[in-house]
Amino acid sequence: MDDAAGAGLELDDIQSGVLRPRPSPYAATYILLRIDDRRAGRELLRRLSAVVTSAVAPDAARRDTSVSVALTFEGLKALGAPQPSLDSFTWEFRQGMAARATALGDVGESAPERWEPPFGTSDIHVVLIGVAPDEARLEAALAGGRAAIADLAGVTAIWRQDCRAPPDHKEPFGFRDGISHPAIEGSGIPGDNPYDPPLKAGELVLGYRDETGSLPPAPQPDVLGRNGTYVAFRKLHQRVAEFRRYLRANASGPEDEELLAAKMMGRWRSGAPLALCPLHDDPALGADTARHNAFMFRADDSTGYKTPPGSHVRRSNPRDADVAGVARLHRMIRRGTAYGPLLPEGVLDDDGADRGLMFAFVGAHLKRQFEFVQSEWINGGEFLGLGDAKDPVGGSADGAGSYSIPRRPLPRRLHNLARFVVTRGGEYGFMPGLRALRWLAELPDDGSAEP
Ligand code: HEM
Repeated sequence: MDDAAGAGLELDDIQSGVLRPRPSPYAATYILLRIDDRRAGRELLRRLSAVVTSAVAPDAARRDTSVSVALTFEGLKALGAPQPSLDSFTWEFRQGMAARATALGDVGESAPERWEPPFGTSDIHVVLIGVAPDEARLEAALAGGRAAIADLAGVTAIWRQDCRAPPDHKEPFGFRDGISHPAIEGSGIPGDNPYDPPLKAGELVLGYRDETGSLPPAPQPDVLGRNGTYVAFRKLHQRVAEFRRYLRANASGPEDEELLAAKMMGRWRSGAPLALCPLHDDPALGADTARHNAFMFRADDSTGYKTPPGSHVRRSNPRDADVAGVARLHRMIRRGTAYGPLLPEGVLDDDGADRGLMFAFVGAHLKRQFEFVQSEWINGGEFLGLGDAKDPVGGSADGAGSYSIPRRPLPRRLHNLARFVVTRGGEYGFMPGLRALRWLAELPDDGSAEP
């Protein structure tokens, strides 16, 4: 079914990491590379184009193991991409994530000056991402990437982060993650919400029409932009002990703690959505991939008595709820993978370990998708009719914020929301199609490849 339905999209040119859902469970590794020598950088891309997998996957084994590559704006400069091509990338991408800090809420503890090196510097040029069902297969997949840089004097691996998505899919706060994904027209990859029509491919991959009926602005020449997409990586440290203490301090007992957690997230920890089971957790529903995302909001929860409008999942995808603007223009492919040791169940004191989420966004529109959701829906509430209230889970709280949970006869209000998530670093990347990778690898040394 896959390939016939995917006829509209050039799956053989699109990187697997863009479209293919990840296996379950899985291990992932992010490796950042710096290019000090242009020729070595191009040779790297030539070698990587043989390692990177396309979204066409002939068999289940290769479908589940992938190596993807993204380039930052600094990386494209280091490779000597022609100036007209550099100028054709979107403004936000050219700025880089650190320069967008104020808009993204990366201030105070999350400010780029406090990021983990090399984030926030101009050293990040290439991002390699390996994904496989387990560590052994991941290492085997990455061996190709390692071999590609082993004898290249002008390319250096400068950072590595190992991550894992455990069998229960739980992120460090204890909620099942990786549930809700948009269906993409022509990809042949089935969606998980039968009530949500597939998104036009151009929302997620460049070179195709988007929801507005236009072709999104793409890097030039056509061979460079076509079948590529933008990505945003963020290393998000999670203050798990603080999150648990906040729930304990604001709840009337263990059951209420779970209810409060669910009302902040919009789903119970099992993944069961409040929209479908508002009163108690239902682990069987949480694990049921056919049912756990099969809902919208408008029909029976327009005021948010079940799923608060300010909860993380409802504000980051209001679906058909009444919000200013068109929610479908702010969707994204989202890959979040936990890193660091889990804080043992029941522990309320911080053990000092670094744990959190390597968050990855994939989409054709950095500004109206990732940046809009991060700044207007997660760190603001105007578009959602919530004043200046931020996301109670992932927002840049300063200890003074409040959170309103609709309830009859009066809403329940939480106060003094602390910052539970701190940005440790991040960067924007461009994930080219496979032909574009080879085009970049073959750029002539005299800079004459004008589009
Ligand atoms: C450490 C920070 C974060 C945590 C712990 C977190 C956790 C979660 C969880 C547990 C879910 C529900 C499961 C699912 O639908 O897959 C979810 C959904 C989602 N999150 Fe996050 N998230 C974080 C950061 C972000 C950021 C930075 C963004 C975007 C800028 C984001 C956007 C979304 C979206 C779009 C959904 C899907 C909503 C839906 O379609 O129902 N999240 N997140």
